This record gives sequence, C-alpha cells and structure tokens, in this order.
Amino acid sequence: MKILLLNGPNLNLLGQRELEVYGRTTLAQIEAKVRARAKKLKAAVEFRQSNQEGELVAWIQEARGKFDVIVLNAAAYTHTSVALRDAIAAVGVPTIEIHLSNIHAREEFRHKSLIAPVCCGQILGFGPNSYLLALEAAVNVNANPK
Ligand code: DQA
Repeated sequence: MKILLLNGPNLNLLGQRELEVYGRTTLAQIEAKVRARAKKLKAAVEFRQSNQEGELVAWIQEARGKFDVIVLNAAAYTHTSVALRDAIAAVGVPTIEIHLSNIHAREEFRHKSLIAPVCCGQILGFGPNSYLLALEAAVNVNANPK
C-alpha cells in the first residue's frame, strides 16, 4: 500500500500559526507520527507540502499508477480550487480529504469543500489525529462500498 500524503498552503507554518485553531504541533512532528503509524500498518507514505496550487495539481497527476491512495489536506485550496478537484477526478486515485480543524464549525466560507464530491470521504476536526485516522482509512480504502 503506497500512500501519497499532500499538504497545501500555510501548513508549513503549523506550530506558529493561529495556535488556538491548529495547536502547537508542527508539520514535521505530524510527519513523524504519520511515519511511525504507517510502519505499523505496513504502508509506505510519501509526505509533501506545497504553497502552490499548480505543484499540488502536478503531484496529484503524477500519482496515477504510483500510489494506491492520496490523503489530501488541501488547506485553503479546499474552498477555492476547481483545478485540484478536476485533478482528483481525472487521475481516479482514491483520495481522502482531511483537515485539522472542523471546517463546518468555522467561518461560512470554509463550510464548502470543492474537493469533497470527488473524494471517497472526509476526516476533519481531530487536530493532528486527523492524519492518523486518515492512514487507517487509507489502508482499508478498497474495502469501502462504492
Ligand atoms: C485546514 C482548514 C482550511 O480551511 C484552512 O484554510 C487551512 C487548514 C485544516 O486543516 O483545518 O489552512 O485545511
């Protein structure tokens, strides 16, 4: 099982950014937890972050044939990016949407996810644990009913 875990804009600032919303855990610390859990689940994880929409689109496109599942925290692009949505739909690699915060309990503009309809599911609101829950979902993704 090969998992591509992608992080969108400003997630490189976790641990410094809006601590009351995102907490003190850095992206590097999340990555370490993800790697440890992936090892237990016998899954291989590639962990990346970009502040650029086009780079995220390119990584999603390149995932076809190389990865079994994409786990995506698209950050602000969740709410704006038709390009990311189209890339997910185009490659056909099962994609799990994740967020640290509960986007439905925040500002109204965050309630809408443009990528949700092309993802197999969403995990949100559990802080860094959203990443670990997503790994569990990812390794079992093929067992889900369509
Ligand atoms: C986020 C939620 C988004 O609304 C926001 O733009 C982010 C982070 C989250 O993980 O909670 O940057 O994706």
